[in-house]
Amino acid sequence: MRRVYLDNNATTPVLPEVLEAMRPYFGERFGNASSIHHHGQETRAAVERARESVAALLGCRASEIVFTSGGTEADNLAIFGLARAGDHVITSTIEHHAVLNACKHLEAKGCEVTCIPVDGRGLVDPADVKRAIRPNTRLIAIMFANNETGVVQPVAEIGRIGAEADIYFHTDAVQGAGKAVIDVNKVGCDLLAISGHKLHGPQGVGALYVRKGTQLEPLLYGGSHERSRRAGTENVPGIVGLGKAAELAIAGFERGDDQGMAAARDRLERELLEIEATGLNGADLNGERAPRVPNTTNIYFDGIDGEALIIALDLKGLAVSTGAACSSGAIEPSHVLTAMGLTRDRAKASIRFSFGKQNAPEDVDFALGLVATTVARLRELSPVWNKVPARTT
Ligand SMILES: Cc1ncc(COP(=O)(O)O)c(C=O)c1O
Repeated sequence: MRRVYLDNNATTPVLPEVLEAMRPYFGERFGNASSIHHHGQETRAAVERARESVAALLGCRASEIVFTSGGTEADNLAIFGLARAGDHVITSTIEHHAVLNACKHLEAKGCEVTCIPVDGRGLVDPADVKRAIRPNTRLIAIMFANNETGVVQPVAEIGRIGAEADIYFHTDAVQGAGKAVIDVNKVGCDLLAISGHKLHGPQGVGALYVRKGTQLEPLLYGGSHERSRRAGTENVPGIVGLGKAAELAIAGFERGDDQGMAAARDRLERELLEIEATGLNGADLNGERAPRVPNTTNIYFDGIDGEALIIALDLKGLAVSTGAACSSGAIEPSHVLTAMGLTRDRAKASIRFSFGKQNAPEDVDFALGLVATTVARLRELSPVWNKVPARTT
C-alpha cells in the first residue's frame, strides 16, 4: 500500500546523508569524547564539528551551543536553569508542554507565572508581554513557531522588550529550526531550543543556545561535560547526526527548499478549501493570515471527529495528526486551538498536515483525493452533520 507521511511536526525521517554521517560513530569510531587517546580525540573532533554546524544554523558561536537529549530537555534547562523561587516568569498559552508543564512546576517551586493569551490567528501581542513585566520578572519564554499551527510569533519584538527591561528571553524554536532562517541576534534571545528529530536528524538529541555570559544552573550534576552546563557522556552519533542535519538545512535554505515546501502546503490548503467551498463551507484554516513556517497547515472540518478522520486516513495510507503527538489519543481538545478561540468541537475537528524534505508534489495529490473523499464519507455517517450550520464568515 502506498503510504504518505504528512506528520513531520511529530517527527521527521532521518535523511540518508545524516544516517551515513552517523554510521561510523556506532562502529569503529566509538571513543568517549572525554578520553584523551586517539579514540576520544576522534569523537571529540566530531562533536566539535557538529557544534560548529549547529552554531552556523543559528548564527551564534559554537561555544554558545549546549547539546541535550532533545527539545524537552533544552526547554527545561533554559527554564529551571534561570528561574528561582520568588521570580516571575512570562510565557504564553500556546507553548508546547515542554514549556507549559515546566512553568507549572515552577509555580509549585514558588515562582509566579503569567500566561499571555493569543488572538484568533494564534499570535502573542508583544504589548501584552510588556504589560506583564513586573520588578521580579526573570524570564520570558515565548515560542518561535507553534507546533500545531506553524504560526511564527513576533519574537524579535519580544526580544527587544526583554532586552530593554533586562529580562532573559528564551524561545522554543523546535518547530522553527530548519524551516525558517534563524539568527539568534536578530531574534534577540538569550536562550533558544532546537531538537534533532524535527529537522531530519535523529530522535533523542537537541541543543540549547545559551548567550555568552548567561549564568545557567545545570539540571544534571556529574562530569564537566558541555562546559559544566550539561553533565553526561555525549551522545556522539546523535550529535553528529544533528550537526549534519543542520548543514543540510542551511544548504536547503540556499536552494530555496522552504519556498518549494510552502508552495506544496499552500496548494494542499487552497485545493482542499476549494473542494469544501463547493459543498457546505464546513472547513477553514486555523492560523490564517498569520506568518507561518512553510511546512504546516491546520484545518478544521466541521462535523468531523478529528481522531476518527486520522484513523480513517491512516487505513488508506495517509499519516496526519490532530496536533501535538504527545497528546494524540487524549480526548481533550488542543490547548492551542482553544486558546485561539475555537470551540471544543472545532478544535476536535481540526487536522494538522506537516510537510518534510522527503515529500514530493504527488503527495499533495494523494492527500487531496483521500481527505476530500474521507471527510465526505464520515459526514455522511454523521448524525449531526446536516445540522451543523454553514460557515458564515
Ligand atoms: C514546539 C516544541 N517544543 C518542544 C518539543 C519537544 O521536543 P523533543 O521531542 O525533542 O523533546 C516539541 C516536540 O514536539 C515541540 O514541537
